[in-house]
Amino acid sequence: MSQLHVLGDHSSFVNGAADFIADAAARAQAARGRFTLALSGGSTPQPIYARLAAAEYRARLDWSRTYIFFGDERCVPPDDAQSNYRMARQALLDQAPLPRENIYRLRGEDDPARAALQYEQTLQAFFRCAPPPAFDLILLGLGDNGHTASLFPGTAALRERERWVVPQYVETLRAWRVTFTAPLINAARDIAFLIQGADKAQILWNVLRGPYQPDVLPAQLVQPMQGELHWLTDATAAAKITTA
Ligand code: 6PG
Repeated sequence: MSQLHVLGDHSSFVNGAADFIADAAARAQAARGRFTLALSGGSTPQPIYARLAAAEYRARLDWSRTYIFFGDERCVPPDDAQSNYRMARQALLDQAPLPRENIYRLRGEDDPARAALQYEQTLQAFFRCAPPPAFDLILLGLGDNGHTASLFPGTAALRERERWVVPQYVETLRAWRVTFTAPLINAARDIAFLIQGADKAQILWNVLRGPYQPDVLPAQLVQPMQGELHWLTDATAAAKITTA
């Protein structure tokens, strides 16, 4: 099932998204004793992660039973301004009482193919399962070209059906990325896109209401097998959907 949550202005979007994540954590920890969360990168999540680190959320989720992963990473060192890990560390990982051993960083500084294989082995060891593991929640962003995670239009990663994590050279960025694949993303119990800003209104409309063309709009590959798909937006990003 796919559900659109239009959360109002930017502040309401940040608070609403943080609440959504905290609620998912509470449900997972009550049901399975732990919360496995894959973070998305880019700029949208930063204030949401910072909000989640606030003391008031410590009554709502148990950080000691929360396990942090990364849905994609830029192939840069962890202290690079481009690093998704660096953004998450500054906004959340260093602010919340998260045990260091609960954080599984994707090693962007390594050779991309080796980093992808190592991360896949890390996931296999953590989840101890053969089919793609079911994360409790995978957070995703939506790029203005329809990419999500580091699944970019026209790339080989879009067609990967076996691997869970792959390296991908992105011509348009002239840069390497490492990313979760669609099979891994679609195995999640909950998937939540975090989308804000008027500049995302058209691409969101294209993804949700336009023709199905996943090679052009990779976000359309996100179709959970058994889980729930949520589109968390502010009012400006949803404007073309809600006024259509
Ligand atoms: C990344 C992200 C990417 C991001 C989108 C949206 O590594 O850049 O994982 O998929 O979520 O590009 O980015 P913004 O939130 O900055 O618009």
